[in-house]
Amino acid sequence: MGGSAGEVLVVRQGGDDPSPGLAAALRAHGLQACPVSAGDRPADLNGYRGLVVAAGAEGAASHLWEQAGAAGLPRLRLSGTAGPQDVAAFARSAACSAAYRSARGTREFFAPRAASWEEKFPDDGPAFAEAVGELALTPGATALDAGCGTGRALPLLRAAVGAEGHVIGVDLTPEMVRSALARGRGAHGRLLVADVARLPLPGAAVDAVLAAGLISHLPDPAAALTELARVTVTGGRLALFHPVGRTILAARHGRAPSPADLRAEHNLRPLLDRTGWTLTAFHDTDDRYLGLTVRR
Ligand SMILES: C[S@@+](CC[C@H](N)C(=O)[O-])C[C@H]1O[C@@H](n2cnc3c(N)ncnc32)[C@H](O)[C@@H]1O
Repeated sequence: MGGSAGEVLVVRQGGDDPSPGLAAALRAHGLQACPVSAGDRPADLNGYRGLVVAAGAEGAASHLWEQAGAAGLPRLRLSGTAGPQDVAAFARSAACSAAYRSARGTREFFAPRAASWEEKFPDDGPAFAEAVGELALTPGATALDAGCGTGRALPLLRAAVGAEGHVIGVDLTPEMVRSALARGRGAHGRLLVADVARLPLPGAAVDAVLAAGLISHLPDPAAALTELARVTVTGGRLALFHPVGRTILAARHGRAPSPADLRAEHNLRPLLDRTGWTLTAFHDTDDRYLGLTVRR
């Protein structure tokens, strides 16, 4: 058994909550406590972001404790002198470790795909042009391509903002940015290696954001959308876009679209509401996926 993204395994002796502050401290960092009794503990920590062992469960959880140590996962014993400060420090460290592991996973996935990324999808141009059109950019504006990959949208964004405008492409995977530069995309905008959840930009710096194929790769979409809201002017637009719809995308992976998919309208709308955006148009057809949103 493995935890879903953001879960911390809590092994406890009885049914009682071993630490009243733990769940809240984890929640504050976007993590969730996953309590199990010592008798039901999993065989390994695969997928979990950290381990907490309650008083009395140390013996039963000793192999998990060693596993966490060997894997460099944050671990905390609640017996003895552990207090609220230890719990808070553990939650911080589990959050950092989760972000680090997820960034590493994203890079490991996209790095080998960077050199031939665009060649796999040679017919996407018109759909990208339409999505950039939906951003309603005007000459002189500043556009951000969040998760820009090889920068295939940068020439379109540059055409929309003109020579006096600004185009910024940000991607977490250095190989993607290198490939963008090798393709001459640096002539259309500034390219940065950065996480969209921690952008090196001041507040209200951009007029519109294109996020193509990005949102499903984010470990904490709420944190990234909040950060994108921070750097976008009030009334600025964000296009959550993909050149094909969810049904075709799911079929490529041999399945049907899941109702739990974050990109489904019933999941996306409340998430955007919570993070400073209002969904103003939604299309999910075979030839495009587009959630068009406005910064409140
Ligand atoms: C499916 S690709 C899409 C690339 C490009 N937008 C396109 O449509 O060709 C997703 C991209 O998002 C980048 N990415 C994933 N998580 C990111 C994050 N937290 N911050 C910045 N970029 C990220 C990946 O490195 C990858 O290049």
